[in-house]
Amino acid sequence: MIRIPSFDLSSRNTFGMKVRCALFVEYSSVSELLELLSEDLPQPVLHIGGGSNLLFRSDFPGTVLHSAIVGISFAPSVISSSPSVISSEVEKSPAPADDSVIVEAGAGVVFDDLVAEACARGLWGLENLSLIPGEVGASAVQNIGAYGVEAGDVIDKVFCIDAATGEEVVFAASECAYGYRDSRFKHEKGRYIVVKVTFRLRRSYSPTLGYGNIKAALEGRDLTSLTPSDVRDAIIRIRREKLPDPAETGSAGSFFKNPVIPREHYDRIVASTPDGKVPHYDLPDGMVKVPAAWLIDTCGFRGAVKGGAKVYDKQPLVIVNATGSASPSDIISLENDIISAVRSRFAIDLHPEVEHI
Ligand code: EPU
Repeated sequence: MIRIPSFDLSSRNTFGMKVRCALFVEYSSVSELLELLSEDLPQPVLHIGGGSNLLFRSDFPGTVLHSAIVGISFAPSVISSSPSVISSEVEKSPAPADDSVIVEAGAGVVFDDLVAEACARGLWGLENLSLIPGEVGASAVQNIGAYGVEAGDVIDKVFCIDAATGEEVVFAASECAYGYRDSRFKHEKGRYIVVKVTFRLRRSYSPTLGYGNIKAALEGRDLTSLTPSDVRDAIIRIRREKLPDPAETGSAGSFFKNPVIPREHYDRIVASTPDGKVPHYDLPDGMVKVPAAWLIDTCGFRGAVKGGAKVYDKQPLVIVNATGSASPSDIISLENDIISAVRSRFAIDLHPEVEHI
């Protein structure tokens, strides 16, 4: 277990905010976690993953916990319900009749390492989620999503420790209340600590290619002979074109959620737009989803700068720490300017996707 008082969190949040917490603790097993939960830690307690969807507004007065429970294992059959033992990589046999493979990963596994490993083994299900920053535990809390697939679509079970009782609680995906970047874990904040997640992947050909520009990125390829790695490569190319490289530029990915509005509201926006062209996606319930990036761009914010914070030129849905020394208030002030501008021009309230701490 690693314990560091007055810890500088700048390497633990992808925005690169230079803030401190009273205590940082990293544990590497369920028993270490249970030991911690019985202690009198500086309050409040915040559990983080890769820190890729957080904006620290200021120093954090309490304890920041991080899981270093790692290990990925592949098993075609029912797995043990004990969250404390995460076996090393073993391929077991025989395969179940439905060709699915259960992949088990510790909460502290880097999510993209899991995706890469699954693709390398020719397993379908995670490839569209390639290159999403963050860790496995957070993927189950945030229901990360990209290119037509959300974590909740592939998650089998989420293994948690109830922070109040120290008991193990296992949720089937259907019990996690998954929605757009949402889950029960976000509403019962701090109650459940994810220790491992199982995913149901498939051996047989089952790509999801319907979203946006995936097929274009695979142009010239025989789609019937694709492998999960081919799709992963295409997704990586698409993401690299649009999103900042986290190794170079601090950000937390999409800063806002894409708003969903009633059809009449959308029609009013179209009527007030000079060329009448407003990108949108019709949802099955009759509502209309409008890309936040378009709203932000139309309000003139592409490339806008506030102190060290900047609206990313290639994707206005992303706010970046352009100088490397942006302060939380630079980012929040740019965020507020965007929200006000979009509200006064389109009567739409943008909501941040990034969690403010
Ligand atoms: N859209 C569809 N279906 C399509 C294509 C696009 O519904 O086939 C919608 C999108 O949901 C969005 C709009 O069209 O309303 C624009 O889509 P685009 O692919 O340009 O993505 P985006 O809105 O810029 C979202 C996610 C990204 C994710 C991409 C790709 C949010 C807030 N952002 O961005 O996630 O990588 O789609 O799926 O939903 C992140 O969460 O940090 C993130 C980068």
